[in-house]
Amino acid sequence: MLLAACVPALAQTQSAGTSCTGCHRAQSAQFDTPMAHALELPGANSVLAAHPVLTYRMGAYTWTVATKNGQSTYTVSDGKNSLSLPIQWAFGAGAQTWVFAQNGNFYESIVSYYPAENTLGITTGDERLTPQTLEEAMGRQLTAFDTKLCFGCHATGAVTSHQLTLNTVHPGVTCAHCHQGALQHADDASLGDYSSEPPHLKDLSAEAISNFCGQCHRSWETVVRNGWRGLFDVRFQPYRLANSRCFNGTDPRISCVACHDPHKNLVRDDLYYDSKCLACHAPTARPTSTGKAKTCPVAKSRCVSCHMPKTTLPGGHLHFTDHQIRIVKANEPFPD
Ligand code: HEC
Ligand code: HEC
Ligand code: HEC
Ligand code: HEC
Ligand code: HEC
Ligand code: HEC
Ligand code: HEC
Repeated sequence: MLLAACVPALAQTQSAGTSCTGCHRAQSAQFDTPMAHALELPGANSVLAAHPVLTYRMGAYTWTVATKNGQSTYTVSDGKNSLSLPIQWAFGAGAQTWVFAQNGNFYESIVSYYPAENTLGITTGDERLTPQTLEEAMGRQLTAFDTKLCFGCHATGAVTSHQLTLNTVHPGVTCAHCHQGALQHADDASLGDYSSEPPHLKDLSAEAISNFCGQCHRSWETVVRNGWRGLFDVRFQPYRLANSRCFNGTDPRISCVACHDPHKNLVRDDLYYDSKCLACHAPTARPTSTGKAKTCPVAKSRCVSCHMPKTTLPGGHLHFTDHQIRIVKANEPFPD
C-alpha cells in the first residue's frame, strides 16, 4: 500500500540540486557522484537497467531480480511457492541493497547486487541469517529507527522533525543535505537577497570536516562509542584517519577535502594523491605543529599504494582504502 502512496510523489519531486546549477556551476558541473546516487528510485536505476535478470541460489531458495521498462521485481522462491515485490528503493550506487515497504513495515533485501562479482550475493551483515520461511528469505525487517537512519544517510530531506517523511525525499546525498538552509538561500538569492547564505563549509577545521563527513561515514566518536572493532572498521574513514600519525585536527592539509572534492567523483589514480602527501612530507614542505614531517626512504611516488592499502571485507564483496596512513608491515595484525 505504501508503494502506491509514495512512489508517484517521489518521482515528481524535483532534484534538490537543480536550483543551484545556474549560480554555482563549479560545484554542479560534475555533480554526478555515487553519493548523489546513494538512493535510486524505479526508472533511474542504471545498475538494474544494465542487468535485466539477476539470480542467486542458496539452500532451498532462489532469488530473482527482473527489470523491464524501468520497473524491477524481486522474487524469492523455495521451489514450491514464491513471493514477489516491486523494488521501491535501491540503496547504493554500485553495490545495491533494496528496501521494500509492506503493510507499514520496511524490509532490507537478503540478497544484494555486488559489482565485484557482477551478480547477486548475500547482503553484507546478513551472512549468518538462515531463513526459515519465504518471508524471512525475502528480507530482514528493519525497525522504524533503522529505516529512518537508512534514508537519512542515503537521501536528502528524508527526515523532518526527527520523523521519516518519505513524501519529501530527494534520492541521494544532494546539495541541500550538506549545505543546510541552501533551499531557502536559493529562493532568496534568485530574488537578489544573499543574506541567508548557508554556512561556509570551507572554513571548517580538519577535525570539524571529519565529523561532518562522519555523520554518514562514521566519526571517530561514533566508532569508539559503539565499540566497533575488527576489519570492518576500515570502512569508517574518519575513524581510521584520526588514528593515523599524520592526522592533526587543525591542519587543513589532512582534511577529507584536501584529498576529496565532494562535488566530484572519487579520483582512482594513486599518482593524484602524491602532492597531498608531499604537502607535508616533502623536504621543502611547511612544518607541521610537531615539527618537520619525515621523507620516505623507499619511494618518491604512488605513496598511497603502500601506505593506504586496499582491504577486502569478509564476504569478499567490498573493498575499502585504509585511511590509517602508516608503514604497513607484512603479516601484522590489522590495527583496529
Ligand atoms: C541566484 C543565484 C544563486 C542560487 C540559485 C543559489 N546560490 Fe548559493 N550563493 C549565491 C551567491 C551570489 C553566494 C555568495 C557569493 C559566493 O560566495 O559565491 C552564494 C553562496 C553560497 C554558499 C556559501 C559559499 C561559501 O563561500 O562557502 C553555499 C554553500 C551556497 N551558496 C550553496 C547553494 C546551494 C546548495 C544552492 C541550491 C540549493 C544555491 N546556493 C543556490 C548565489 C546563488
Ligand atoms: C548525508 C550522508 C553523507 C555525508 C554527509 C557524506 N557522505 Fe560520502 N557517501 C555517502 C554515501 C551513502 C555514500 C555511498 C554512495 C554509494 O556508493 O552508494 C558515500 C560515498 C562517498 C565516497 C565514495 C565515492 C565512490 O566513488 O565510491 C566518497 C569519496 C565520499 N563519500 C566522500 C565524502 C566526503 C569527503 C564527505 C564530507 C565532505 C562526505 N562524503 C559526506 C554519504 C555521505
Ligand atoms: C550513518 C549513515 C548510514 C546509514 C544509517 C546507512 N548507510 Fe548505507 N552507506 C553509508 C555510507 C557512508 C556508505 C558508503 C560506504 C562506506 O563508506 O561504508 C554506505 C554504503 C551502502 C551501500 C553500498 C554497499 C556497502 O555496504 O558499502 C548499501 C547497499 C547501503 N549503504 C545500504 C544501506 C541500508 C539498506 C541502510 C539501512 C539499513 C543503510 N545503508 C544505512 C551510510 C549509511
Ligand atoms: C557531501 C557533502 C556535499 C554535497 C553533497 C555538496 N557539497 Fe558543496 N561543499 C561541501 C563542502 C565540505 C564544502 C567546503 C569544502 C570545499 O570547498 O570543497 C563545499 C563547498 C561548496 C561551496 C563553496 C565553495 C567555495 O569554495 O566557495 C559551494 C558554493 C557549494 N559547495 C555548492 C554546492 C552545490 C551547488 C552542490 C550540489 C550540486 C553541493 N555543494 C553539494 C560539501 C558538499
Ligand atoms: C591524504 C589523502 C586522503 C585523505 C585526507 C582522505 N582520503 Fe579518502 N581516500 C583517499 C584515497 C587514496 C582513496 C582511494 C582512491 C582509490 O580508490 O584509488 C580514498 C577513498 C575514499 C573513499 C572510498 C571508499 C574507500 O575507502 O576506498 C571514501 C568514502 C573516502 N575516501 C572518504 C574519506 C573521508 C570521509 C575522509 C576524511 C575523514 C577522507 N576520505 C580523507 C585519500 C584520502
Ligand atoms: C598534515 C600533514 C601530513 C599529511 C598531509 C600527511 N602526513 Fe604522513 N605524517 C605526518 C606527521 C606529522 C607524521 C609523524 C611524523 C613523521 O613520521 O614524519 C606522519 C607520519 C607518516 C608515516 C609514518 C607513520 C608511522 O606509522 O610511523 C607515514 C608512512 C606517512 N606519514 C605517510 C603519509 C602519506 C602516504 C600521506 C599521503 C597519503 C601522508 N603521510 C600525509 C604528517 C602528514
Ligand atoms: C613501495 C612502497 C612505498 C611507497 C610507494 C612509498 N613508501 Fe613510504 N615507506 C615505505 C616503507 C616500507 C617504509 C618503512 C621504511 C623503513 O622503516 O625502513 C616507508 C617509510 C615512510 C615514512 C617514515 C619515514 C621515517 O623515517 O620514519 C614516511 C613519512 C613515508 N614513508 C612517506 C611516504 C610518502 C610521502 C610517499 C610518496 C611520496 C611514500 N612514502 C611512498 C614504503 C613505501
